[in-house]
This record gives sequence, structure tokens and C-alpha cells, in this order.
Amino acid sequence: MEKLKKYAVVTGASSGIGWHISKELAMKGYSIVAVSNQAEQLKELKNKLETEYSIEVLTIDCDLSQKEAAGNIFKFCQEQKLEVEVLVNNAGILVYGEVVNVPVKRAETILQLHMNTPAILCRLFAELMVKNKKGFILNVSSISAVMPYPTISLYGPTKTFLRQFSRALRTELKGTGVSVLCLLPGATATALYDQNKVNVPLATKLGVMKKPEYVAKVGVSRLLRGKGESVPGFLNKIIMLIVPWVPNFIIRIIYKISLRKR
Ligand SMILES: NC(=O)c1ccc[n+]([C@@H]2O[C@H](COP(=O)([O-])OP(=O)(O)OC[C@H]3O[C@@H](n4cnc5c(N)ncnc54)[C@H](OP(=O)(O)O)[C@@H]3O)[C@@H](O)[C@H]2O)c1
Repeated sequence: MEKLKKYAVVTGASSGIGWHISKELAMKGYSIVAVSNQAEQLKELKNKLETEYSIEVLTIDCDLSQKEAAGNIFKFCQEQKLEVEVLVNNAGILVYGEVVNVPVKRAETILQLHMNTPAILCRLFAELMVKNKKGFILNVSSISAVMPYPTISLYGPTKTFLRQFSRALRTELKGTGVSVLCLLPGATATALYDQNKVNVPLATKLGVMKKPEYVAKVGVSRLLRGKGESVPGFLNKIIMLIVPWVPNFIIRIIYKISLRKR
């Protein structure tokens, strides 16, 4: 009898950490439902993973900042009768700058993309996973979750939401067979950064930035071992410990100096 395929839904699978998480899961035998708004790159991922591993890759080209996105992805999986065992909420953007200067549309995009869509995807898929008594949910937050800092005032706090939401959900689902991991990467060498402003190759060489394949490997391995949180890299673990204790007046001074330098 043919073995039932098990599927992993991965958002933001077309590049960076999401691409490598898809690869890690494919290596472990999962077929992938790859979601992003880059049709060409999704096709590339499909060709690569289906050639290298004996799995299937289904692609969904959709804008995850749209209100109906989570419902549409769930509906697609239901219609295709896929047994979804893993959900990875990875898609994200970096919005840099003072809130009053951020275009309203961009502010709405990050809030929907980092909070509403992942939370509703968790809501929909977790219910099925509980019924199946098995499942893994990986929410990609960031070490910025502990940094309510100026100029990343939309980015950091949306990642705080994802962290706290993951913690609460993990507690609710304890004993159901469904495990929730919050991955908190530090600086990672991906397209998230404007390559004209950040010297990504140099930062990676100096070890300040991690490679996305490393972050993905740590995340997937911790997820499948049922862990609750993961901060890849020793330096990032130290940053996570120290940063919440930095008093606000120090942050104000640093911000003032940075304003003078602009
Ligand atoms: N890089 C870092 O230093 C770092 C650190 C901590 C946490 N993270 C988090 O890691 C996650 C992955 O980021 P990354 O570094 O791998 O960056 P990335 O290479 O830019 O990947 C982001 C992914 O999300 C997709 N995406 C963005 N907006 C979307 C939308 N509206 N609809 C559908 N897909 C969308 C992107 O597709 P497009 O190609 O269309 O943009 C891409 O596939 C993010 O949540 C990010 O916040 C990154």
C-alpha cells in the first residue's frame, strides 16, 4: 500500500530562511506547500526540491498581507485533501524608519503579514492537528522581539506578538500531540536587508550575520524535537539576555546620536 504523504506548509518559501526551511523539511521526507508572492522563485524551489528529494512541492502564489490569505491557503489544503503535519509561519518584511514616515499601506502590510495571517493560519491548522493528535508549528520571530526600539517600532513589536502568541499556544496545546516552536534568529544574510546599506558578505565573514541555511537547520531540528524556543548562534543568545535590561535613557541617547549622524 502506498504510504500517505505528509505535508508542510511554509510561508515565505521563495527565498532566505523559508527556502532553507523547505529544503530541511524535504530532506526529512515532507512534501511542501510553498507559499509566497514570487511565482518564478517558487517554481525554481519546486524544480530543485522535487529533483533532489522524492517529495512533492505544491506552490501557492499569494500576497500574505491580504486579509483572506490564511483562509485561502487552508481552503486549498482542504480541497487537495492534504494531511498537513507542519506549519511554518516565516514570511516577513523589514520596515525601517520612524512610524510617522512609514506609508500607511506599508504599515498595514507588516501588521497583517507578521500578526494576523500567522495567527489565523495557526488557528485553522492547529485545530486539524489536534484532531490528528500530531503536528508541528514553527513561527519565525526575531531577536528584535525584545527590542522595542525606534526605527524598528513596527518590526520589533510585531515579532514580540509572534513570540508571546507562540508561547501561549504551546501551553494550550500541551498534551495534544501538537508542538509549537518560536524561532528567534538574529541578523541573517538574506534579501531582508538592503544590500546597498548593509555589507552582508563582510558581516557573515565576521560572524555577526548567520547563514540562512544554518538558521533553518537549527530551527527544523528543534521543531521536530518538540522544543519551545530557539535562538540560533551564541552571540544572539547573549544579545537576548542583555538587551531587555538596557534602560530607556540609553536608547534615547543612542537614537539622538544616530539622528545627528544622518
Ligand atoms: N534576515 C534576518 O536578519 C532576520 C532576522 C530575524 C528574523 N528574520 C525573519 O525571518 C523571516 C524570513 O526572512 P528572510 O530573512 O529569509 O528574508 P527574505 O529572504 O526576504 O524572505 C522573506 C520571505 O517572505 C516573503 N514575503 C514577504 N512579504 C510577503 C507577502 N506580502 N506575501 C507573500 N510572501 C511574502 C518573501 O517573498 P518576496 O520575495 O516576495 O519578498 C520571502 O519569500 C522573516 O519573518 C523575518 O522577519 C529575519
